[in-house]
Amino acid sequence: MNHLISPMDLSVTETNELLELAQRIKDNPEKYANVCKGKKIATLFYEPSTRTRLSFESAMINLGGSVIGFSSADSSSAAKGESVADTIRVISCFADICAMRHPKEGAPTVAAANSKIPVINAGDGGHNHPTQTLTDLLTIKALKGDLNNLTIGLCGDLKFGRTVHSLINAMVRYENTKFVLISPNELKIPDYLRREVLEANAIKYIETDELERYMPNLDILYMTRVQRERFFNEEDYVRLKDSFILDEKKMQYAPENMYVLHPLPRVNEISVGVDKDKRAVYFDQVQYGVYARMALIMKLLNIEEPK
Ligand code: CP
Repeated sequence: MNHLISPMDLSVTETNELLELAQRIKDNPEKYANVCKGKKIATLFYEPSTRTRLSFESAMINLGGSVIGFSSADSSSAAKGESVADTIRVISCFADICAMRHPKEGAPTVAAANSKIPVINAGDGGHNHPTQTLTDLLTIKALKGDLNNLTIGLCGDLKFGRTVHSLINAMVRYENTKFVLISPNELKIPDYLRREVLEANAIKYIETDELERYMPNLDILYMTRVQRERFFNEEDYVRLKDSFILDEKKMQYAPENMYVLHPLPRVNEISVGVDKDKRAVYFDQVQYGVYARMALIMKLLNIEEPK
């Protein structure tokens, strides 16, 4: 494995090994404090980010390495018309590994094809976000103890939400996964996912717009925001943005051991009153993201685990 572009680039065994390494890092971070001494990560962010960029940077610093990069296309030579292929050739001279976020689906694939260093997809358009998926899997495994036999509710913008697409791809490989896909009609999952991933793997799923009705059956409720930046017109966004708002009243329908995850940022889809519920784990999920990215950086750089 040289690059991580899609969650499917990792086998289930490799994914599980990474999650186990991330858990060992969480349990004993000091042990890993210098394993990347002298190494640099370049964070190439052509689209806004808070968590992903800063957690990659935090992850590399926690491993003893350092960070270079840009946080918007405007502050890079992309603003002068430089291609992704040329940019990655240049970055390959400066860094040992890079994480790229880009609004165009497939841009990290183009980068990987022209790179001398490992490329990590940090989110490409409405397509994939594999390190958010590693974060989500690590959070779910830590809280539920297992990634098999789970019923996962995915709620909100299932059409444009790349975290949803990546999580579906990853979870269908575990035993007895079931999905409840909760969205307005216009924001259902793309056809290719229904056909090529869910139906091709004989996965049980329901598509619905009734959150409360299905909440009692869920192990995990994965809330997502409506992705304003992917809409073609503002009117549609305004009409759909508040389709689902999880509040304290709705949480009464949730089992005691159902956890609420959200990749964040949150806009309006979870009321702040839910934050104090012990089942609301979206801020813990952010912390797990740092450990998942530390493990991934070690793996892609072939760093030996210290004795
Ligand atoms: N979850 C996530 O991708 O957040 P950012 O957009 O802040 O990186």
